Amino acid sequence: MTMSKDFEWLEMDVGRAAHTVTTALDYVGVDDRSHGRRVGLICHRIAHHLGWDRDKRHFSLLAGMLHDCGVSSTATHQKLLDEIEWSGAEDHCLRGEFFLSSFEPFNTYKTAVRYHHTRWEELPEDLSEETREFANLIFLADRLDVEYAIFSLSHEKYKILQNKTEVLENLQEFVGSLFSPKIFEAAREAVQRDSFWLELRDEYLDDAIFETLDYSDHKVVLSFDQVEALGELISLIVDAKSPFTHYHSLRVADLAYTISGFLGLSERDRRTLRIAGLLHDVGKLRTPDEILEKPDRLNEDEVSQMRSHPLDSKRVLKAIFPNTPIAKWASEHHEKLDGSGYPFGWQGDQIDKPTRILTIADIFQALCQIRPYRGRLKPEKVISIMEEMVLQGKLDHDIFMLAKANADELYTIAIREGAEIEKKIA
Ligand SMILES: [Fe+2]
Ligand SMILES: [Fe+2]
Ligand SMILES: [Fe+2]
Repeated sequence: MTMSKDFEWLEMDVGRAAHTVTTALDYVGVDDRSHGRRVGLICHRIAHHLGWDRDKRHFSLLAGMLHDCGVSSTATHQKLLDEIEWSGAEDHCLRGEFFLSSFEPFNTYKTAVRYHHTRWEELPEDLSEETREFANLIFLADRLDVEYAIFSLSHEKYKILQNKTEVLENLQEFVGSLFSPKIFEAAREAVQRDSFWLELRDEYLDDAIFETLDYSDHKVVLSFDQVEALGELISLIVDAKSPFTHYHSLRVADLAYTISGFLGLSERDRRTLRIAGLLHDVGKLRTPDEILEKPDRLNEDEVSQMRSHPLDSKRVLKAIFPNTPIAKWASEHHEKLDGSGYPFGWQGDQIDKPTRILTIADIFQALCQIRPYRGRLKPEKVISIMEEMVLQGKLDHDIFMLAKANADELYTIAIREGAEIEKKIA
């Protein structure tokens, strides 16, 4: 548990954060979007048959979910799928280790992830028995999932239940060399259950993971610096989904932080709002790429799908940051004072000040962004469009006037390029 000296801390659920990170990372150049989550669940189920206690089972779930956090390209991912041992695998293990070490609550998983492609017989001597087993469990779960994915592509939906051990048989020859005989034996028991296979299906996967996560308390108290670092990382992944939202969340967060300073909000509220800004569009991870990337107007169906993203953001953020207003502020960023917004249609006083700030930051940044059909708008144009919305009773007049008075400063923030943290996922 970490607490910075000036008590700028937040409560966060590490299990839910790991789930969000793996879901987000699965969108980075990876076609099979559930691999990370499935490997986590497979690890947990095999750990059960190893007789591991609750803490160790949960460790394996999180380490498994995060195991491929160093993969960022489709080409790498494809190689990892095609070849059981690939000389280039080392690279993503090292990157994963680096990524996990950069966020303290994930630091504990770094060594298991570092060695998740190392043969059982070649694991470094100086690793503890426990770490060797965690690393090898991930290795086996990873290969098992690859075999499972291949099997499910070529067979009918429930065929796997009649061939429960077939997937494992392909790995049999590597017992003792690649895989620990003890872990392999536990896997052989685990795959006998129907539920082992059914819960890997997309329609059950998240429920199974959440149910498992709920057995343990993963709440930790973190400094704002730590949470913001993770928030920035997730925001870059979300924004990378569409070429038109490059750095959008990061800049909305900075704008909201700056505007809330003009309004005299407390530092604690400002930084909480910055996190809400970083993650306000995290629900877009569920919006299909074709919609986010579509250069022309969306049709009615697409608009309807698009409009569900604030509720998805709410669900994710409520789970990661319980007992904070982050989910509320983030999920109301498309509400308008006249009730014309979505998804709740709140009006006037139903919308609090931080939410109003976030809404203005979001619109300001979006207007500053280049669109396929137009270049970057000038500050005066951005302000005049927003002024019109204030006159229509959609945006807060006082907050807007402060934004207008500081338009140049805000404009510079809104169009700033680049981010330090990007190195970590590059
Ligand atoms: Fe891997
Ligand atoms: Fe993997
Ligand atoms: Fe949004």
